Order: sequence, then structure tokens, then C-alpha cells
Amino acid sequence: MSEQKVYPVPANIAANAHVDAATYEAMYRRSVDDPEGFWGEYAEQFVSWFKPWDSVLNYSYQADDLHIEWFKGATLNVTYNCLDRHLETRGDQVAIIWEGDDPNEDRSITYRALHDEVCRLANALKARGVEKGDRVCIYLPMVPEAAVAMLACARIGAVHSIVFGGFSSDSLRDRVLDSECKVVITSDESVRGGRHIPLKRNADTALQECPNVDTVVVVSRTGGAVEWVEGRDIWYHEAIAAADATCEPVEMDAEDPLFILYTSGSTGKPKGVLHTTGGYLLYAAMTHKYTFDYQDGEVYWCTADVGWVTGHTYIVYGPLANGATSLMFEGIPNYPDMSRFWQVVDKHQVNIFYTAPTAIRSLMRAGEEPVKQTSRKSLRILGSVGEPINPEAWEWYYHVVGEERCPIVDTWWQTETGGHLITPLPGATALKPGSATRPFFGVVPALVDPADGTPIEGAGEGALVITRPWPGQMRTVYGDHQRFIDTYFKQYPGYYFSGDGARRDADGDYWITGRIDDVLNVSGHRLGTAEIESALVLHPHVAEAAVVGYPHDVKGQGIYAYVTPMAGVEPTDALKKELVSLVRGEIGPIAIVDLIQWSPSLPKTRSGKIMRRILRKIAANEIDSLGDTSTLADPTVVNELIDGRLNR
Ligand code: PRX
Repeated sequence: MSEQKVYPVPANIAANAHVDAATYEAMYRRSVDDPEGFWGEYAEQFVSWFKPWDSVLNYSYQADDLHIEWFKGATLNVTYNCLDRHLETRGDQVAIIWEGDDPNEDRSITYRALHDEVCRLANALKARGVEKGDRVCIYLPMVPEAAVAMLACARIGAVHSIVFGGFSSDSLRDRVLDSECKVVITSDESVRGGRHIPLKRNADTALQECPNVDTVVVVSRTGGAVEWVEGRDIWYHEAIAAADATCEPVEMDAEDPLFILYTSGSTGKPKGVLHTTGGYLLYAAMTHKYTFDYQDGEVYWCTADVGWVTGHTYIVYGPLANGATSLMFEGIPNYPDMSRFWQVVDKHQVNIFYTAPTAIRSLMRAGEEPVKQTSRKSLRILGSVGEPINPEAWEWYYHVVGEERCPIVDTWWQTETGGHLITPLPGATALKPGSATRPFFGVVPALVDPADGTPIEGAGEGALVITRPWPGQMRTVYGDHQRFIDTYFKQYPGYYFSGDGARRDADGDYWITGRIDDVLNVSGHRLGTAEIESALVLHPHVAEAAVVGYPHDVKGQGIYAYVTPMAGVEPTDALKKELVSLVRGEIGPIAIVDLIQWSPSLPKTRSGKIMRRILRKIAANEIDSLGDTSTLADPTVVNELIDGRLNR
């Protein structure tokens, strides 16, 4: 079996790593046997606190008493940790290298310069009435101002809610309203692959329905034309120029909110995942240092967008807490050409590179030539995140990109988990292509039978749950604590349920098999089938819609929609086009429906529930293994759908 392929830890990496195999075993054991001692010790090492805690951990995973509190009673400020404490020793070190979409554009920002700008923006926000606990929405492209905006909020205790710049104005509106933001920080335009996207215009449209937003801060990215609302809109550069560069960090309780980030679930609208201050920062810093074996002075590059959790934890908070040099990239992997990632690696002498399998797969398709044109000698560690990496892509990443020199850390985690939960450590873990391998310190995963929750011991496959808290865990769904409990703690009582399935092999290594709920992972972007279905049924000609994922060579999963038109409506290709653009407009360009199958009726149980299991099988072209269809109200529907299937 291919899983038997094992790449041992390179001796030179192990010799200099923060953690080798023996250290991992000892630290992991301690983290499980004595969690309070373990986390207390590392909390002192990684984080500077204003006031110490009364207790390391209070929690209950029981649905009727659910609570999770880390470092209760302690106070700190995240920006003191990410900026102030570095000034004396590394004030002139580069904190953020910004590489523009255009290869001729870049900037380097030192810790001192970043500190200065964060304080100014924090003061500018205060001048507009932003106070501790207020929510600020950030709708920006990948520009340094995005990091400044996050940190400026954290400086004064405001809670940021970043909305990915690729989301539509409707998605932005829904998120601004749900988290009751009073300020939005955006830019005139964003630039990707040479194309300009009118962010300010999207924001203006969204804000027509958000009466509580009284301030819009606008970053001038391109100088493109914008409409201006007097009294509401202010230019970022004018605001920071006018503001004072001294701003004391607000003392925050460890459990005060740091940010909200929306993510899709199986049902309903995206939910606002809420992370708090102390535990999150500790977990971000610790995972960044150990998972990537970050060594002082190295250049580290995570290609994610700050609009996703990966950008929060592994472009901004983790690296800056550790005093790292973090590269921020505005562009895309194939612009101006397929070598871009590796050109950037050479240009900035990147040592650690962290990207998504979908990017690897699309680059792999273009062959080895664009990679081989570059040196990549600076690379030491490679990382993968966002979806299962297929062994073929893993091997290509390892052999072609890393020239068999760089360990790959395949990091499994989620928006909800704040940081890595299952991942190799470069100096400690033998690698198996496609396996996320072992739990991080303090993380105790388990597999349970999806049907009845019975724990699975030893080698086996099941629903992936976590049996106790770790400091980076989300604390609630903003404004809906019950939803937090219902989504994660009801199905398998006493456990946090991830929504993923996994296999554990005889060595104890984990292999993530993907979502086992109604969540899709399209090019590493998480989308709920329910959201896409709600968009489809907005069309007056659509009676009903059911959406499933199907295997896609580059995107990992593609979106397959079964649509029932209203009686009397002619199902045409023109209507299909309208539906594709409707979904895109409602959610954003990450939600492109790949295939639409007209379905006069959908397979339902006698109680009217759509049997998605069957729809998934037909979409995957696995029609020989449909399973039991006898409980369907009308089993003949299935044959009709099979005959009309689009993925053959
Ligand atoms: O299904 C898992 C997949 O991405 C989901 C989380 O998505 P999101 O909250 O958007 O966060 C993405 C970045 C952390 C998970 O439930 N996933 C993430 N990383 C991996 C993965 N699946 C397999 N292997 C991974 N390394």
C-alpha cells in the first residue's frame, strides 16, 4: 500500500530542530498527562502578560454546561506581544515583506515602522469613536494595511471581522450586519493577476443596507476612481498622517474576544467563529514555531489570504508574536507566469513556504520546467494546508519543488481550531505522503463510529473528534452560543466534532479523508451546500435545488447542482448560465457551480428528506455503489438521474 512509503526525518534537520523525535514524545506525553503544568510553562515562555492567571484551564465539553476558559484572570495585549516587545532587540528587522501582484512592486516594513503605523491607525479609529469591544470589519486585499488594521484593532481592544476580498457585496453585507460592525476598512480596488476589482464599490453597495456603519476607512491601493460619502468615508493615508504615533496597548482579559471570522457550516448562513486573546495568541505562536521549526532570522511565507484563518494565524499573529519575517503576497501563482511562486522564493530568499494543495496541483499540471528555471536553494521546510493533499501532489511538491531536501508539514486544522491540530514536526516526524500524521502538543484526537459514536481503538476509520480543549479553540459563535453547542458538541457527547472523517493506521498516524457533513472544500475554500442551494432557489424559475461535491482534479472538489425547474419552465443553457452567475453574485467568485443537472425530481425519503448520499454517488460517477435505495418514496427517480449524469 502507498501509505507504507515513509520518508524519515533528515538528519541535518533533526540535529538543529527545536523539537526532535525524542523531544516530541516527551513533550507530548507531558502535555497530555499534566496539561495545566505544560500550558502554564509555555504560556510564560511564549507570551508576555501584564497580569498572571488565576487558573490555566476551566472547561466542560458537556452540552448543558459548555464552557472553555484558558488563563482566566490574566491580562495581555496581542500587539504588545507582536510589536512592542520586539522593538528593543529587532526594531530594525523586517517584520513584513510585501510582494505585489506586479513583480516590480514590493515593500519591506520593519517592526518599528509597523509599530508606528499600527499606533497611528489605532488612534485614528479611536478618534472615530471605536472603543474596546466594538466590531470593525476589514475588507481588504493582500496589502500590509490589512495586517496594520488587524493589529490596530487589537491594540485598542476592538474585535476585527475580516471578510475575504473575493466575497460579494451581499456576503459582506450579511457579515457586517451579523457582527454589528460600526466601521469598515477597505480599499479603492484590489489587484490580482493584473486585474483590478472594485472593492470600495462592493462595500458601498453592501453598506446601503448597514445603517450602523458610520465610518469607512479607504486605503488607496490603485488610485482608481471611487465614490465618496462625505462624513462617513476617510482616506487611510490621511487618517494615519494626522494621528499620533503613541498609543498605549489596552489591557485585555485573556478571554476577551480578539476576532470574529465567518465560516460555512452544514446548515444555514455562515457563522461567526469567535476567538479570544490569550489562548489563541499562545497557540498561534507555539504552532508557528514548532510546526515550521521557525529559526530566528528566517524568511517565512504563507501564501494564504488574510481573509482566511490561515492568514490570521500564520501570516500575522503567529509569526509576529515570534518576531519572524513574514512575507505577504498580493498576487496569484500563475501571474505573470507559472514560475511566480518560485521567483518570489528566490527574490526574497524564502526559507519556509506554506501553501495549499490546490495550488500545487495546478502548478503540477504545467510541468517541471517553470519550477526548474528557479533556484529554490533557500527553501528548508514546505507546508500544506486547506484540504487533503493527494499523494501524487505531495510527491511532486517533495521531489520537484523541494528537491527531496525539505520536509513537508501537512497541517490539519480549521477556522474553529485557531491553529494546527494534527501535523508533522520537521525534526521529529517521519513523513507519509497524504498523512497529517500526529497530534500537536496537548491535542487528543479520537475516532468514533459515525453512526453511534462508539470509540474506535487502534487502526480504523471514523468521525474525527477531539476529546479536550487546546488554547486556540474557538469559544463561541458570535451572537449564537447555542449554535456553537449544537454544531460541535451535540452529535458525539463529550467531544468536539470536527466535521471531518479520518483513518488511523497501525502506526497511529492520521489520514484525513475530508468532510463528512454537508460542507464542500473547493480549492481549499470552505462552502456550505445550504448556502449555494439558498442562492439557487432565489431564481424565480427554480423550484428546488440540491448541491453536492464531486472529485475535481485541480479544485479537490467541484460543485454539482441538481436543479428542479418550476413547472412549465424550459430548462435551457441560458438558464444554467444565469444560475451560475446568480450564485457567484450572491456568494462571490469562489462559488462557481461547475455542473448543473436538470432534475425533474430529487430522491427523497417518505418523510421528504433529500437523500444526499445518492446524489453524491451519482455526481462522483460511482453508480455501482449507490447503496440501499428502498427507503425512497419513488426509487425510479434515481435511474432518471443516473441517465442524465454529467460527470462520466
Ligand atoms: O476538511 C478539513 C480541511 O479544511 C477544513 C477546514 O476549513 P477552514 O475552516 O476553511 O480552514 C482551512 C485552513 C485551516 C477541515 O475541516 N482541511 C484543512 N487542512 C487540511 C484539511 N484536510 C486535510 N488535510 C489538511 N491538512
